[in-house]
Amino acid sequence: MKKKIVFSGIQPSGKLTIGNYIGVIKQWVKMQNKYNCIFSIADLHSITTYKNNFDLNNNILDTLSLYLACGINPNKSIIFIQSHIYEHTQLSWILNCYTNYGELNRMIQFKKKIINNSKNINTGILFYPILMASDILLYNTSYVPVGLDQKQHIELCRNIANKFNNIYGNTFNIPKPCILKNGNRIMSLQETNKKMSKSDKNLNNIIYLLEKKKDVFKKIKLIKTDSKKKYKIKYNNNLGLLNILNILSGLTGKKINKFKNHFNNKIYSDFKNEASNIITIFLEKIQENYYNIRKKKSFLKDILNYGKIKAKKIAKKNLFKIIKKVGLKFKI
Ligand code: TYM
Repeated sequence: MKKKIVFSGIQPSGKLTIGNYIGVIKQWVKMQNKYNCIFSIADLHSITTYKNNFDLNNNILDTLSLYLACGINPNKSIIFIQSHIYEHTQLSWILNCYTNYGELNRMIQFKKKIINNSKNINTGILFYPILMASDILLYNTSYVPVGLDQKQHIELCRNIANKFNNIYGNTFNIPKPCILKNGNRIMSLQETNKKMSKSDKNLNNIIYLLEKKKDVFKKIKLIKTDSKKKYKIKYNNNLGLLNILNILSGLTGKKINKFKNHFNNKIYSDFKNEASNIITIFLEKIQENYYNIRKKKSFLKDILNYGKIKAKKIAKKNLFKIIKKVGLKFKI
């Protein structure tokens, strides 16, 4: 039986965080063994808000190197740069015509982004989920591993696909989101009411995959606890500490309760030191791989070129079918 298709992507708009790893990359690594996986570096999405185009090329290579360092295998999975496959933008235009303005306007991320980008409310931010739907639908995807913040976008994608199928007959697979039970929304370290995000201006909120040991310790130390350091640990409503437990569980695969029991009767400073240690040990393995891979520019470019050829072949064939269905088939 043919393997089902998995599609997912990350924007190369900054360095990847442990939130990206725990929420999605960890899922990708597992899924490669069971499915045909296609992983994109979503550069077109990133230009909606990210304006440093000089860095973008480097960020693409950084992102690819991190995919590989975390365990994505280019012999098993297709890895490609979104803007290399023009079919994505072509399908995106077609799908615009099957999406209501109201559906886009109520996207939570859109509402947040227009507040955060109040000086640059470009329509790319509005149409962003349709490009994402195009990415997914172009490859007849069955599964889309994502973090919780992308759930609404996948629902929109499914609605667009259903609408299209109802008009033109069975064209698109209706993709299912794969969202982890635990770790689908790693929160900011200090401002625990928002998710950890690679574009956050407050660097103390983030642990990057390339974070240095001393900075991991520093950032975790900054998390607010009882003022008396010697108090025994109480998690109660301390979202900062619960977030760390979630991170530890996400990185090690061990249950949260196991960590809770382990830290029982310990004091806050022990908790923070041990947690920082566990995180650092995990990151060091990835970083060692990363710095080895990142030097090999031509190897990285070969992977992207190979991915481009493979993705293009599927995208071209599928787009052709869609174009015929909507009637864009005038021949000269
Ligand atoms: P992006 O680059 O914002 O995030 C990449 C993926 O990481 C997940 N994620 C998190 N998961 C848990 N905790 C966090 N703190 C956290 N931060 C981020 C996100 O949910 C996401 O899955 N539009 C997408 C990229 C994209 C895409 C696609 C994804 C483009 N086309 C098609 C799936 C399918 C984005 O901006 O992700």
